[in-house]
Amino acid sequence: MLKIDNDVIKNRKLSEKMKVKGIAYYPEHWEQSNWDKDLKRIKEMGVNTIRIGEFMWSLLEPREGEFDFTLLDQMIEKISSYGFDILLGTPTATFPVWTLKNYSNIMAVDEMGRQRKYGTRRQYCYNSKDYLRLSRIITGKMVERYADVKNIIGIQIDNEIGHEGSDFCQCDNCRRGFSDFLERKYDSVDHMNQVYGNVFWGQNFIEFSDVEVPFGDLLGHNPSLRLDYARFLSESTVAYCDEMLQVVHKFKGDHQEVTTNLPGGLFNKWFDANKLVENIDFVSFDNYPIWGGEINNADDAKVAMELDMIRGLKEKKFWIVEELIGAQGHDYVGWLPRPGQAKLWAMQAHLRGAENIFFFRYKGLNKGEEQFCQGVYDVDDELNDKFYEVKDFFEDVSKDFNTEDLASNNKVALLYDFDNIWSWKIQPQSSEYNFLKEFMKYYRPLYELGLGVDVISTDKDFSHYDMVILPNMQIVSDDLYQRLEAFTNENKTLIFGYRSGIRNKQNNMRLGKNILQDMIGATIEQYEAMGESSDLAVDYKSIKYPLSVWRDILRLNTAEKLVGYNDYGFENKSCVTKNNYNKSAVYYMGASLDCDLMKELYKDILKDSQIAFYETSNERIQLNDKTFELNHSFEEVSGLKPVSYKKQA
Ligand code: GAL
Repeated sequence: MLKIDNDVIKNRKLSEKMKVKGIAYYPEHWEQSNWDKDLKRIKEMGVNTIRIGEFMWSLLEPREGEFDFTLLDQMIEKISSYGFDILLGTPTATFPVWTLKNYSNIMAVDEMGRQRKYGTRRQYCYNSKDYLRLSRIITGKMVERYADVKNIIGIQIDNEIGHEGSDFCQCDNCRRGFSDFLERKYDSVDHMNQVYGNVFWGQNFIEFSDVEVPFGDLLGHNPSLRLDYARFLSESTVAYCDEMLQVVHKFKGDHQEVTTNLPGGLFNKWFDANKLVENIDFVSFDNYPIWGGEINNADDAKVAMELDMIRGLKEKKFWIVEELIGAQGHDYVGWLPRPGQAKLWAMQAHLRGAENIFFFRYKGLNKGEEQFCQGVYDVDDELNDKFYEVKDFFEDVSKDFNTEDLASNNKVALLYDFDNIWSWKIQPQSSEYNFLKEFMKYYRPLYELGLGVDVISTDKDFSHYDMVILPNMQIVSDDLYQRLEAFTNENKTLIFGYRSGIRNKQNNMRLGKNILQDMIGATIEQYEAMGESSDLAVDYKSIKYPLSVWRDILRLNTAEKLVGYNDYGFENKSCVTKNNYNKSAVYYMGASLDCDLMKELYKDILKDSQIAFYETSNERIQLNDKTFELNHSFEEVSGLKPVSYKKQA
């Protein structure tokens, strides 16, 4: 066991450890003769915490059962001698080659049925018992060894669990695991057949073990069965993380908190991030507004939405353990962050709830797959402007932009639900349907209206919001329905997107009338899928707006028409409606609407709901009584310099 409690560490103020100014550093990449130089520079940047360790398994256990912590001990001792705190990563995201030589059931099999090949990362199957056992051993040994190191303030489990394709596997372990999952879920095969409707195409199963993994065939597959597989994948991912968490808890020091870093693009994953973080102490996130071959500038509204979603996972502030500082990419590079842009993105994250931030990474390496992932220093090892961006940022968050006592108090929530997201992924229905793109059609106009929004899963309590929006919530469970009904018993505003309520929890269409029909006050008579653009348009206040992707054709019952169709045969039908239901106003957006139209509709709805908004071209963030503005453009906007931020007086 390594013990560290040197004078610098002992004498620091306790609060320092919660105000992390961090950077990812990989001392194992460099000759030890560089370490002092590197750590001095890191200190000069204003960094107080260093993140290490998450890819070191083959150095720590070069052969099965042979452990060697010498190098990691030396790294920790050296880093500690400079008074830094440490976030220590457990190393299971990449595994030593002996694991594969000794055990044949570790490698995952992708959606097309191809076995992954050793040499990249995140290739293991969460249901491999051998991988789990080996992971437990290395994680336990590592955490136990450093439990008494006072300045190791946190443990990061693995690295970006579920990212880079590792959210899917269909190997033999998974096939067996899925069969057990089904057996636990359904009391009999008959019940399962009945839920899936296997009478259709005459495909009743005889035993649970008959069920094939319903992905990777030439044709689609039963949507209800596929949703069960998605749930199984999610459970497998979460179970692996929870196993690691148990090991970490068994061995860690009381002063050490536990996290696991989430990747971007969570709406596109086969795991529910809410469940993954349920048992960890704090959420951490890797924030890359641009990555790889993305040649266009980042979409600041999309980045904001992602950050709001991350904050919503535990409805608390979170950490960023990787914040981009330079261009990144493996085989392709793209947009080069303009001077000041990485700092602006870091500030955007901070103001949206990232209380502690680590930049990625201290220095670029000239070998391996990440040669084009830039650090604060590049491979030339020369001082450059990025050093000052980091330094300035850390100075700003210590002074005027310290958000420690500030919190958002948003009145509006956008709801999502992974069952629903997976249902869309399984059957997009329109060739142009993309959940994130459609979700952004509801988020972006609010962002442009300077309104703070919480992005939360339907599991969370939404009763305290004034306005709740459910974009394209196909699956409305009976429980969710009850909670929505209760919500409308107060003076609130509810907005549904098209296709809401058509399916039950089993991912089957509801028979009979839509569960939301009375709430919406209209009947969805028919529907149509459209392209990314179409010739169809609708009018609102005498202005024409285009339609795309999808439309429902509505007949009014108790609702009033806000926007109607005008094309042949549908002149009397509605597209957007408003219904007074219980004590609330319930709106239905019956098509994929253009952002400008959504903005106009929102303005009217917000006025009616007495929720203030602010038309601004800058990003606006309100925390308690403080207002912050960020200008993401390359021109001066409303007196704010290009690529800069300010706190309003
Ligand atoms: C992250 C990952 C890091 C590094 C980085 C490169 O997704 O966690 O290990 O690969 O991307 O940009």
